[in-house]
Amino acid sequence: MIDTSGCSLYIGLLKASALATEYGTPLYVYDEDTIIARAKEILTSTEHFPMKILYSIKANPNPYILSLLYSMGFGFEASSPGEILLAAGIGASPSEILFTGSSVSIEDLKVAVELGVEINIDSIYAAKKLCRLNYAGSVGVRINPMFGAGYHEYTITGGSRAKFGVLAEELPNIVSKLKECGIGVKRLHAHLGSGITSPSLYIELLRFLTTLARKIRGVEEIDLGGGFAVPYKPSDKRFPWKVFSEKLREVLEELIADNYTLIIEPGRYLVAESGILLAEITDIKIRSGFLIVGTNTGINHLLRPALYGSYHEVLLVDKLCEKAVVTADIVGNLCESSDIIARNRKIPTPREGDIIAIMNTGAYGISMASNYNLRFLPAEVVVKSSGESILTRRRQSLEQLLESYKWTSKPLTRDT
Ligand SMILES: Cc1ncc(COP(=O)(O)O)c(C=O)c1O
Repeated sequence: MIDTSGCSLYIGLLKASALATEYGTPLYVYDEDTIIARAKEILTSTEHFPMKILYSIKANPNPYILSLLYSMGFGFEASSPGEILLAAGIGASPSEILFTGSSVSIEDLKVAVELGVEINIDSIYAAKKLCRLNYAGSVGVRINPMFGAGYHEYTITGGSRAKFGVLAEELPNIVSKLKECGIGVKRLHAHLGSGITSPSLYIELLRFLTTLARKIRGVEEIDLGGGFAVPYKPSDKRFPWKVFSEKLREVLEELIADNYTLIIEPGRYLVAESGILLAEITDIKIRSGFLIVGTNTGINHLLRPALYGSYHEVLLVDKLCEKAVVTADIVGNLCESSDIIARNRKIPTPREGDIIAIMNTGAYGISMASNYNLRFLPAEVVVKSSGESILTRRRQSLEQLLESYKWTSKPLTRDT
């Protein structure tokens, strides 16, 4: 577990600063116990329902995490050929992998069809592509229910401006297009957004999708997507799984009568709180009464603050007992004004070389990371329940970073 009760931050039995020394920084660290605890919470509150639980790989594609969740009974929701292959690589069978792409190409669908994984289509164009591929199975259709929810407008995926899914009124046309080439519809899917705290919204979605499903012959599965909220600030709420379970019980009889299996696709909920991005303070500036604390990471490693204005707590890992006496902006090392990890934070006096922990970064941290400014992706470590730490991803080397620029081996020569 992640322990902030003493003067130093511990992840499991290991001191965060010792992990920084051993593996270097920036470093993503994931606590296995936290993932297991979150996974059990979901499994126990859904165990009495006809339910498949698919981990949404886009939250964090770390293969150790995938393998851990697979061992606990989870399948996978994949959004690209890369994620499909990763899930297959850790041993998931095709029926345990569901591909839900957006603006998919025929090449994307080809990978899914050749591997035989489950597919949700997002538009009539995807339906036509499957016909061109002579696909012989049944698919799911992603619906935009015209309502959504989430932490930020960019994490809301249903509604009149959302690019995802097809409208309910477009469904009959898609069903008949698919039927023309022998493809059935076995599932209706919607994903409302990310950061949802209200179980009632999922029940509303369930009712919306089952009403549509009853009009189509052959639908077996109702897929409610992911989006279950975790707290980032102390005042934030987490998704109440027990309430969800009680509300599901109220509709269980209807589900059983219709013979529908439910699918949920949690991503963030399983991994967000397990992750910590460790970085080193590299410089400190004073600006009109407050500090700008520079670090060796940035929004290339954690895009969420710049993309969504998201909040992540920042701790000085060995100064947890020291009083917060200064106000600081914690910034990265990129040539970008938006490279701000945390604004206006009260922290203990920082020094060059101090290690900071950017908390709750297990979801949409590494998976959204980039090589902007040609900087390396961080290494990743898992602290196992047994107490040992394992390196699950090496830090990139300069050679790897430049490897794809083959052209640089033949520079143009100057005339003069
Ligand atoms: C189709 C689909 N399912 C599941 C998820 C996972 O959402 P979350 O990580 O909020 O649970 C997403 C996230 O974008 C998604 O697009």
